[in-house]
Amino acid sequence: MTDELLWKELEESCAACRGCPLWQTRTNLVFGTGSRTAELMFVGEAPGEREDQTGIPFVGPAGQLLDLYLEAVGIPRESVYIANILKCRPPHNRDPQPEESEACMKHLRGQVKLIRPKMIVCLGRIAAMRLIKPDYRITKEHGTFVRRGAFLMTAVYHPSALLRDPSKREDMYRDMKAIRRALDEEKQQGEDYPA
Ligand code: URA
Repeated sequence: MTDELLWKELEESCAACRGCPLWQTRTNLVFGTGSRTAELMFVGEAPGEREDQTGIPFVGPAGQLLDLYLEAVGIPRESVYIANILKCRPPHNRDPQPEESEACMKHLRGQVKLIRPKMIVCLGRIAAMRLIKPDYRITKEHGTFVRRGAFLMTAVYHPSALLRDPSKREDMYRDMKAIRRALDEEKQQGEDYPA
């Protein structure tokens, strides 16, 4: 099957998913957006109000701030893939419940399998606890890299946390620059040692 068909199948099965009750209260499915051949993938927590209205992740205030950091480190938004742990908005933006994340992970795994990024960046504590380790401490561990199989993983503050607490913005800028550097190094190594 071609990648295009596999993507179609994945998106259709996500749209039809009844693995948790959130499909009942969403306006739109927020599947994911960006380059399907991205080397860099960002994973947030769950769609907010604007995302639920538009069906696109990170388009509200937090997304606009993320765009500024991407631009500041010279990473075009269209070159990355952006998704969330949950594909449906939890009512009133409450934290995802463990059963909801568990039920939704198969869609994210499908996306990662098709994209095969070099690096996955968790946006915030909830994504880092789900994808890196359950006891992830975002204040202590943000910006550190771990290698998991074929890809590098890291986490940064969630852009919403930066909106609430601007004193974290300096750390975010430093982390985003380190992400850019690490990605460039990964690419360089790929060129040095062809498979
Ligand atoms: N916050 C998230 O975690 N994801 C979005 O898509 C928007 C806000």
